Amino acid sequence: MRNEKVPNHLGIIVDGNGRWAEKRGLNRSLGHKEGADNLKKLLLYIYDKKVPYVSIYAFSTENFKREKSEVDFLMNLFVTLFTKEFLTLKEKGVKVVFSGRRDPLPKKVLKSMDFLEEETKEQKNGVLNICLNYGGQYELVDAVKKIVEKGIKQEEITKEVLEENLYQTLPPLDFIIRTSGEMRSSNFMIYQSAYAEYYFPDTLFPDFHEEDFDRAMDVYNKRNRRFGGN
Ligand code: FPP
Repeated sequence: MRNEKVPNHLGIIVDGNGRWAEKRGLNRSLGHKEGADNLKKLLLYIYDKKVPYVSIYAFSTENFKREKSEVDFLMNLFVTLFTKEFLTLKEKGVKVVFSGRRDPLPKKVLKSMDFLEEETKEQKNGVLNICLNYGGQYELVDAVKKIVEKGIKQEEITKEVLEENLYQTLPPLDFIIRTSGEMRSSNFMIYQSAYAEYYFPDTLFPDFHEEDFDRAMDVYNKRNRRFGGN
């Protein structure tokens, strides 16, 4: 590898699947299929490069507003990925966890998520956090609810208590890639991204391959991270 360091926690906002398909005169859903195939390969490469934690924005709470046919396609695609395709991650030693609200995900999707979590729970070479039916603001709302339910007193509430009550206990995000040239965080892990560096390549996600990831790592290595200091 050309670079000395990789992020400890990498975030990927998958974007541009729909446009990739539309540019080819195809149904948007085929872009998601292509994106998923690409993601599967790319993740293996990323874990080979020794990135320990990866979080992916797969589906936001707002994505349910899309056409029913597209949502249905995505739900079925998730089931196939989580029950079959992503088992390659288990072979790599990657533990898969999910972040997001379970309601109103269809039962078959919940079952496939539980299956993959259970299958990979002993893996120790890396963690993949899949944000599905996820919203960063809801994650904070849900954390506050858990804190109240546990009866934690006001004076006991610290940053650590808040962190322990997020969907998953993960290190802070170091670097976030959002493909397709859109320059927004779109509610993706807003707490964990407090000091993350962002990178917005124009490439549509289905075209974002290994060499694009290497280029992203070059960018990361050139960033001067000061965490509020000087
Ligand atoms: C964004 O493209 C992508 C999505 C809404 C999510 C779909 C993601 C996958 C299928 C990859 C699989 C991921 C996991 C972790 C299971 P878009 O539809 O917003 O593209 P557009 O902006 O060009 O319309």
